[in-house]
Amino acid sequence: MEYTHLCLRGSLFLFSVLHYAHTEMSYSIAEELKPGSFIGNIPKDLGLDVGALSTRKARIEKGKNDRKYCDINLRTGDLFVAERIDREALCGEKHACVLKFELLFEAPLELHRINVQIQDINDNAPTFPKDVIKFEITESAGKGTRYRVNAAHDADIGPNDVQSYALQQNSNFVLNMQTTSEGRKYGELVLEKELDREEQRDIKLLLTALDGGSPQRSGTVVIHVIVLDANDNAPVFSQAVYEARLAENSPFKTVVITVSASDADEGVNGQVTYEFNQMSDKSRMMFSLDETTGQITVTGNIDFEEGYKYEMFVEAKDGYGLTSDAKVIILITDVNDNPPTISLKTLTNPVPENVSPGTEVGIFNVEDKDSEKNSQVRCSIQQNVPFKLVPSITSYYSLVTTDNLDREVVTIYNITIIATDEGSPPVSSITIFQIDISDVNDNPPVFEEQSYSSYVPENNKPGHSLCSVKAHDPDWRQNGTVIYSLLPGEVNGAPVSSYLSVNGDTGVIQSVRSFDYEQLRSFKVYVMARDNGSPPLSSNVTVSVFITDVNDNTPQILYPAPEGNSFMTELVPKGAQGGSLVSKVIAVDGDSGQNAWLSYQIIKSTDPGLFKIDLHSGEIRTQRDISDSDNMKQNIVVAVKDNGQPSLSATCSMFLLISDNLAEVPELKDMAYEDNGSKLTSYLIIALVSVSTFFLTFIIINLGLRFCRRRKPRLLFDGAVAIPSSYLPPNYADVDGTGTLRSAYNYDAYLTTGSRTSDFKFVTSYNDNTLPADQTLRKNPTDFEEVFGDHDVSPEVRQFHCTNF
Ligand SMILES: *[C@@H]1O[C@H](CO)[C@@H](O)[C@H](O)[C@H]1NC(C)=O
Ligand SMILES: *[C@@H]1O[C@H](CO)[C@@H](O)[C@H](O)[C@H]1NC(C)=O
Ligand SMILES: *[C@@H]1O[C@H](CO)[C@@H](O)[C@H](O)[C@H]1NC(C)=O
Repeated sequence: MEYTHLCLRGSLFLFSVLHYAHTEMSYSIAEELKPGSFIGNIPKDLGLDVGALSTRKARIEKGKNDRKYCDINLRTGDLFVAERIDREALCGEKHACVLKFELLFEAPLELHRINVQIQDINDNAPTFPKDVIKFEITESAGKGTRYRVNAAHDADIGPNDVQSYALQQNSNFVLNMQTTSEGRKYGELVLEKELDREEQRDIKLLLTALDGGSPQRSGTVVIHVIVLDANDNAPVFSQAVYEARLAENSPFKTVVITVSASDADEGVNGQVTYEFNQMSDKSRMMFSLDETTGQITVTGNIDFEEGYKYEMFVEAKDGYGLTSDAKVIILITDVNDNPPTISLKTLTNPVPENVSPGTEVGIFNVEDKDSEKNSQVRCSIQQNVPFKLVPSITSYYSLVTTDNLDREVVTIYNITIIATDEGSPPVSSITIFQIDISDVNDNPPVFEEQSYSSYVPENNKPGHSLCSVKAHDPDWRQNGTVIYSLLPGEVNGAPVSSYLSVNGDTGVIQSVRSFDYEQLRSFKVYVMARDNGSPPLSSNVTVSVFITDVNDNTPQILYPAPEGNSFMTELVPKGAQGGSLVSKVIAVDGDSGQNAWLSYQIIKSTDPGLFKIDLHSGEIRTQRDISDSDNMKQNIVVAVKDNGQPSLSATCSMFLLISDNLAEVPELKDMAYEDNGSKLTSYLIIALVSVSTFFLTFIIINLGLRFCRRRKPRLLFDGAVAIPSSYLPPNYADVDGTGTLRSAYNYDAYLTTGSRTSDFKFVTSYNDNTLPADQTLRKNPTDFEEVFGDHDVSPEVRQFHCTNF
C-alpha cells in the first residue's frame, strides 16, 4: 500500500471543478497491484457523501484504450484496481504512465477526471536479444580494439532498467560501459590482450546485464568469440640445424635428409613450401630440394675429395610469405675410391754399379686423395731386388740400394712399387720403372787359362803362330775390350819382343825369329791383357814357350878326330883275345832325345870278321882272337847315326895296327883312303858359292834400302810392346762404331842379324796422319820413351826405320 498514494493537487482547482463539475483527481499507484487494491476514496477527495455516489449514479467511464483498469465501489466510494495494470504494457518505455478516467455523476451531471499515475516496479529482468552473441575477431586485431555488444533490454524503466553489465573474468577482454545518446547503457568488449588463434580458437564469455531495481534482476548472454586466423605464424622448422651424413659417390636421387617445418596457421597461411637459400653454386649442383616435401636429394657427383661439407640454408615459406630458415649441414663421408698415386720425383738413372749400399737413387712421393685411413698408404717394393724403400718426410720415400750392384750380373732392374692404402677394401696402385746399371770398369780381363804353354819346333819360320791367349772382360764396351800385349822382359839378355809378338786384338802369339833348340830350349814371357777403361785394368799370364828339337845336327865324332886332321892309330896287341876292347868311337849330337841317340856301325873294314862295334857305346872290340895271319894294318870305317827322322850320320875311319911294338908301325899315310882330289874340288866350290852369295846379298840390301826410303815414313812400334789405350785418342775405340778396336797394328816380324834395333817390327798406323796432333802428340814424347825406353830406340829412328831382306 505504499504505492497507494493519494495526491490532491490544487484544492482551489478542485473547487472550480466542482463548480464546473470538472474536477481533476490524481492518484498514483504501483503497477501490477492485485485487482481490488485500493487507489483512493473518491467521496473523500471530492468532499461528497458516500451515499451520494450511488444516488448520483457515479460511474467510471472507460478510457481511451477501452479498458477499465479502475472502478469505484459505490458503497464505500473507494477507487480500486479493477484489472492487472502492467505499466510496461500500457506505457512501454514512457516514463510517465498515467491512466486517465472520467468519473461521471449524474444529477447533476458532473464530470471529474481521475488520473492514475502508474508507478514502475522492477518486474522485468534485463534480456538480451539473443542467447548467444557471436563475434568473429581476427587474431591480428590490435589491442584496444572495441566490439560493441548489443544492449540488454529491460522493460522496466528508470532505475529498474539496465544499469550495469558484468563480464565474466577472462584474459583477453574487458568490458567498457557506454551510454547511448538516448541514455541506454551498453557494453563494449575491449581487446586487452591480443588473441591467438593458435592458442584458443574460440572464447565463450558470459555477459550479465544488471538492472537497478530492488531486488535486482539480471540477464545473461553468452558472448562467443571466434578467433579468426591471421597469418601470424611463420613456418617453424623441426630443427634449427639439420645435419646429415652422406657417403660420397651416392647415386642420383639418394635422399639425404628431409627437412620439415610446420606452420600453425590454417589454410593458405599454413601451407609451407621449401626452397634453398644462401647456397653456393657448387652445392646447388649437388643437391635439390623438393619444394613441398622438404626432401633433399642428390643430383650431382658427390666427391669427398672435392668437398666434404656442404652448408646451406633452407627457407620455409607459407602461403602469404612468412618465412623462416634452417641450416642444413651435409657431411660427406669418405669412401675409399681413390687409389694412391705414386710419383717419381727424382731418379738417378743409370746407377753406376759401384755405388755403395745405402745410396739413395730415387725419391718418390705417394699420395692418396681420400682421407683418414683411406689415405694412409703403405709402400712396398718387390723382393729380390737390391733396393729398399726408406720412408722420408711425410709421404716421401727414398729408394736406397741395399747391396752392391754388379752390372755384369744384372744390368736392368724393373722396380715395382706397390702402394696400398688402409681403407677397406684397400685400394692399391703399382708403378714399374726401370733402373739401368751403368758400367764401371771393375773387372780386369781374366785369361781363360792360368798359364799357357806352346811347343814350337826349332828352326821355325819367323811369324809362326805359336798359340793364342784369350782373356775375357765382362765389363761394357771399352771397359770390356781386351787388348793383349807382351810385358817387357828379357830372354837371354834380349828383349822378349825380339822373340815373340802378340796380336793386340786376337791374342795370337807369333814368333819373331827362328828358334834354335840347341841355344834356347824354353823361355817364359808375360802377356798382359788390358781393357780399354779409364783407368784400365789388366792381368797377366805366363806363356811358356818350349822349343822342340829338330834333328838338325849331324852326330859329331870327337874321337877319333875327323879324317885328315890326324892319323889316329890304335895299337892292338897281337895276343888280343876275342872280345877285347880295342878302341871306342866317341860322338856327340847337338840334338837331343832320339835325335841325339847315336848308334854306331862299322860300314867298312879291312877284315870284316875281325872287329865289331857296340851299337850304342861305340866300343870296338875284337870278334875273335888275333891270329898271325891277320893283316897288321887294319882299317875300319864307322858310321855314327842318330835316331832322328830322318836320321843324320857321320863317318870316321880308324886305323888299327896289330902289333906289340910301335916301332913296327909302317907309314900310316898309306892306310888312309886318301881322297885329296875330291877335297880340293869341294874347297873350290865352297869359295865360289861364298863369293857369289856375298855379291847377291849386297845387291839385294842396296835395292831394299832405296825402296824403303821412297815409302812413307812410318810410325814405328815394337810389335811386342804394349801401348796402353789410354794413350790413344779417346775416340779411337769408336772408329768403326762397333766398340771393338779394329786391327790397328800390324806385327810384321823380321829377323835380321846384327843390331838389336833392327829386331823391331815396324807398324803402319792408319791413323798417324788423321789423328789430331794435339791429342796424340801432347803425350807422345814421354809416352814413347816409356814404351820404347828399353829398346834404345829414339822416336826419330823409329820414324825412318825400315828393314828388309
Ligand atoms: C723389365 O721390363 C721390360 C719391359 O718393360 C721387360 O722387357 C724385361 O724383360 C723386364 N726385365 C726383367 C728383369 O723383368
Ligand atoms: C767404363 O767405366 C768408367 C768408370 O770406370 C765409366 O765412367 C764409363 O762410363 C764406363 N764406360 C762405359 C761404356 O760404360
Ligand atoms: C802379373 O800378375 C801378377 C799377379 O797375377 C802380379 O803380381 C804382377 O805384378 C803382374 N805383373 C805385371 C807386370 O803386371
